[in-house]
Amino acid sequence: MIIVAMLMPALLLCACSRSGRLSKKSNGGRLMPGEAFEEEFLGTEPTDPGPEPTETDPANQFKKVAISLPTKSLQRWLDDGNRMKTALEQAGYEVDLRYAANDTQTQIDQVRDMILDKCDLLIIAPLSQSPYWDQLLSEAKRNNIPVISYDRLLMDTDAVDYYVTCDFYLTGQMQAEYIIEKLDVEHSDRPVNIEIFTGDASDNQTNFFYNGAMDVLDPYIADGRIVVKSGQTELDQVATVGWRTELAQNRMDALLATFYSDGTPLDAVLCSNDSTALGVTNSLVANYTGSYPVITGLDCDIANVKNIIAGKQSMSLFHDTRTLADATVNMALDLLRGKEPTTNDDVRYNNGKKTVRSYLCAPLLVDISNYKDILIGGGYYTEQDLS
Ligand code: BGC
Repeated sequence: MIIVAMLMPALLLCACSRSGRLSKKSNGGRLMPGEAFEEEFLGTEPTDPGPEPTETDPANQFKKVAISLPTKSLQRWLDDGNRMKTALEQAGYEVDLRYAANDTQTQIDQVRDMILDKCDLLIIAPLSQSPYWDQLLSEAKRNNIPVISYDRLLMDTDAVDYYVTCDFYLTGQMQAEYIIEKLDVEHSDRPVNIEIFTGDASDNQTNFFYNGAMDVLDPYIADGRIVVKSGQTELDQVATVGWRTELAQNRMDALLATFYSDGTPLDAVLCSNDSTALGVTNSLVANYTGSYPVITGLDCDIANVKNIIAGKQSMSLFHDTRTLADATVNMALDLLRGKEPTTNDDVRYNNGKKTVRSYLCAPLLVDISNYKDILIGGGYYTEQDLS
């Protein structure tokens, strides 16, 4: 927040002085804090989109969709990217798919290049929020490039047109409800001990996960049926920078050493996603000798489904990247053909500048009882993937 506030005057200044397109900088294309785009972008008027293309229209092959995703290091983003790329290519579009190697500046540079390369539509899952997004995406808007925010919402810009995601509040609720049900908290003869791990505090999803989960847990914490021994329940205490497995593992190591090394049972760990669940699991396997806790997750990553099969993780929510990617491709195709895309939530996702019209997909709960039906039967994984 402080950094954004400090940069705001500079950003406003350059927004006012900027009248044309952006340009690659000489220093390898990287923008430094406070730097404005160069002026050699001047004078680009939005071009007449011409007649609506169709799937068979050979003009499609000259249309380019740019997709910017956070990292190749999590399997889910690879699946998302491949699915969208293949579908859009099949529809006759050129696709520029790039991954940002978990580095926000890299992602900003990549998107700037994509706009420079005159893409016709942008799909972005932002690694994190940055004041540069507004600057960059305003440039996209000026050039009639529609922007779809994918999975994570681009905040504080009115230049994002649509949002495709899963219902993250519901995801958090389902994770917490799973714990309540599995531990039969309503009828337990002793308070149950849990710890909480959520995602990166700068990821807008994290608020939804966290609020969904805490709205379920809070009443139980208030009346003492659930105890968080560490006392760490505030978002800044339970957030995990970059959703990183090793950071979750380090924090779990510390919690176990401090609060559970005397034999106090740890009954559940609410993890917002699979990368944090993996860190928690690694720590428990190495350091915890009590009876194994309930652990939640999200993404159904292969390593985590293997852990579910091995009894080291209890559940994962499945935001089917195929559904998400397909919904995004449909939206992209509508936009590229000048049609109004379908949305199903036009009220809940306000990014600070506007309420972004959204298409929400539903999460599915996966655990040992149904993983075969949902993940293998549903064609997401083969038996071999999970063996
Ligand atoms: C996504 C999760 C993912 C996490 C870490 C979130 O924005 O919704 O599915 O696990 O980022 O990449």
